[in-house]
Amino acid sequence: MRKLTYFVACSIDGFIGDPNGDASSMMRYVNEEFLEFLKTQYPETVSAEGRAALNFHDAENQQFDTVIQGRGSYQVGLDAGTTSPYGHLREYVASRSLGTSPDPNVHLITGDLVGAVRALKAEDGDLGIWLCGGSQLAGQLLDEVDELVIKTYPQVYGKGMPMFGTDFAVTDFTLDSVRTFDNGVLVRKYSRAR
Ligand SMILES: NC(=O)c1ccc[n+]([C@@H]2O[C@H](COP(=O)([O-])OP(=O)(O)OC[C@H]3O[C@@H](n4cnc5c(N)ncnc54)[C@H](OP(=O)(O)O)[C@@H]3O)[C@@H](O)[C@H]2O)c1
Repeated sequence: MRKLTYFVACSIDGFIGDPNGDASSMMRYVNEEFLEFLKTQYPETVSAEGRAALNFHDAENQQFDTVIQGRGSYQVGLDAGTTSPYGHLREYVASRSLGTSPDPNVHLITGDLVGAVRALKAEDGDLGIWLCGGSQLAGQLLDEVDELVIKTYPQVYGKGMPMFGTDFAVTDFTLDSVRTFDNGVLVRKYSRAR
């Protein structure tokens, strides 16, 4: 059984972006130390464009071989002219409105989201599945999430897009590790308490 990991960036108060989902204010914390962490441990979570700019376009995938995102999250790349932001992974995008996939590497999930994710998790393989977001998708997939990797940037947003777009419900996770960075960024890893 492969793991579904929600690897996500958030503010101290748990928002993944401003009310529209924009998290660009967090980028100022991506310094040399943090980039080294990403490059060595999670290189596949950096977009193809970012990997090319930072000279590690050929880095081997370390944790994931598949990414799943909602159309809202995918739209950010589309608006910037990128149809396959993570071409080094198998890309799945949940959308009922796109109709046909804009890119041969991108597979659309148009219905039975949970069933599609369970089928991916049931595949053989050493690497896992990255749930990229956004909020709506993560909310629907909360019951399927096996692991959380939360990059917390030292900023308070006050208001914004929640990590999980769900109704109130308590779900327990177990803390596995915390890594701190000199600039105040934290990366916490949690496993689902089942
Ligand atoms: N901080 C971070 O690490 C991080 C990570 C990822 C994303 N984000 C931000 O999150 C924002 C997007 O989040 P969001 O909550 O607005 O949108 P989202 O969850 O990315 O996507 C929602 C869309 O997914 C499709 N969808 C949802 N449920 C579906 C289902 N059951 N079956 C088929 N399609 C389904 C629908 O697309 P259609 O309308 O096409 O049907 C829906 O509009 C972006 O601004 C992005 O920047 C932040």
